[in-house]
This record gives sequence, C-alpha cells and structure tokens, in this order.
Amino acid sequence: MAERTALVTGAAAGIGAACAKRLARDGVAIGVLDLDAQRCAGTVEEIAAAGGKAVALGADISDRAQVVAAVARLREAFGPISILVNNAAITGYGPFLELTDEQWERVLKVNLTGTFIVTQVVLPDMIAAGWGRLINISSSGAQSGAKHMAPYISSKGGLISLTRALAVEFGPSGVTANVVPPRFITGTIMSEQSFAGQKQPRGREAEVEAGPIQREGRPEDVAGAVAWLASEEAGYVTGQVIGVNGGRYI
Ligand SMILES: NC(=O)c1ccc[n+]([C@@H]2O[C@H](COP(=O)([O-])OP(=O)(O)OC[C@H]3O[C@@H](n4cnc5c(N)ncnc54)[C@H](O)[C@@H]3O)[C@@H](O)[C@H]2O)c1
Repeated sequence: MAERTALVTGAAAGIGAACAKRLARDGVAIGVLDLDAQRCAGTVEEIAAAGGKAVALGADISDRAQVVAAVARLREAFGPISILVNNAAITGYGPFLELTDEQWERVLKVNLTGTFIVTQVVLPDMIAAGWGRLINISSSGAQSGAKHMAPYISSKGGLISLTRALAVEFGPSGVTANVVPPRFITGTIMSEQSFAGQKQPRGREAEVEAGPIQREGRPEDVAGAVAWLASEEAGYVTGQVIGVNGGRYI
C-alpha cells in the first residue's frame, strides 16, 4: 500500500480516525479531513508518532469550495489520491411527522450531498491512474429501518445506491466502490451521544446480549474491513455491501 494516498473524511474522531490510523499503518499517506483542522491534529499526531504520514485538512464536506481547497492541499502534500473513505456524517432524531424541512435537509446535505461532492472532486485522480478505491460508510439502519431516524437512514440508504451507481460507472476505469454499514460501534462521539440521550432501542448491555457476536463493536472493526476493501486483494469486489455489525443485521 506504500506510495498510495488516501482521503478519510470525519477522521478527527471515532471510526474515521481508526480508518486513518489503520491505513497509515499499511503504508498509505493520509489526508485527515474534518470540520476544523485543529480537531484533526490529534489523529495526525498519532499517525506521525507511529511512523506514518498524514496531513490535517479542515473542511466541511458539504461546502464544495472548502473540499476543493482541502483536496488540493492533500495532492500538494502527497500526490494524487487513490483511496477515498467517505465517513463523515451527522445524525438527528425525531418523530417523522414532526420533522421540519430544515432538519431533513441538514442531514441530507452533509451525509449524501457532502459525499457526492467529495467523491466528485477526488475521483478524477483515480480515473487518471486507472486504479481507485471508493469506500462509503453507511449504517445498518439503512438496511433494517430505525425509529425516529428518517433523515439519517434515508441519507445512508442513498449512500448504498450511490455506491452501486459508482461501481457500475467507474469499474471500467479500474475503480471499485463498496459500502460498509456498521452497527453498535461504541466509543465514538455519535454512538456515545445516542446512548447518553437514550436514542437507542436498547441499553448497551441488552444490545450486547441481543446480537450473535456478544460484544460492543469497535472503530477498529470497521477499519479492518475498510483496509481490506482498500487493498489490492479486494480488486474483484465492487458494488458490495459489507456489514460490520456483529450479526445484528443479517
Ligand atoms: N458508531 C456507530 O455505531 C455507527 C453506526 C452506524 C453508522 N455509523 C457511521 O459511521 C461513521 C462514523 O461515525 P462515528 O460513530 O465515528 O461518529 P463521530 O461523530 O464520532 O464521527 C463523525 C465525524 O464526522 C465529522 N463531521 C461531521 N460533519 C462533517 C462535515 N460536514 N464535514 C466534515 N466532517 C464532518 C465530525 O466532526 C466527526 O469527527 C458515520 O458515517 C456514521 O453515520 C456509525
């Protein structure tokens, strides 16, 4: 994986940070993108301390000008990008009939439109190289349904379809596109807030017991799947949905 460059969005914390650190360990130079560059610095420092290469990129994925500037900085630092992990996302809860247009649009704008923007800005590098890996982080809620999360799971379902569209359109250019819908990955800002706010259907212990794999998921569990999908070995895998959910959705 040496000589490759990856962009990981939402990489200041949680699953994104784990993906960035894992890919860096595999020899990939990383663009650590998140809302502000300072928040990315911790991930960059950890990567550097472990002997890897990374640069902090402060940007909002739903703002095209910011994405274009961040991607330009990454290319300048480490050259063309051949791996993209679209991980940044926000959530939001509420009964469907009470949702406002603003609540709906806010989530769709980041999770779906933001992913569209970042992918469109990065993809030309992969096409030019004849090799690329697009990996989108969805949610198992998009597969199973989830109460009071209509905008979020609609955006995440959109990512599954977007991934399939990209797989079909860019396979002939040497680019694979796959989607990882996780579930019950704890220790991240998003999951800890949802347990603290009692937004989950079960408490953590009940959730552990309810699944075939009876433990909490870790950001590193997702990073392992992402690293494999980014590797040479996964070159015949495209358009696939690879759940990392402890068997909580089969
Ligand atoms: N943790 C879980 O159990 C779980 C389950 C299903 C799906 N997911 C998905 O995994 C991904 C990572 O989630 P996490 O649990 O690590 O959450 P997290 O909140 O810890 O991390 C998300 C990161 O994205 C960043 N971000 C948000 N909006 C952004 C924007 N507009 N531009 C740039 N960065 C932005 C945040 O600042 C944050 O650092 C998300 O796509 C989430 O939907 C997580």
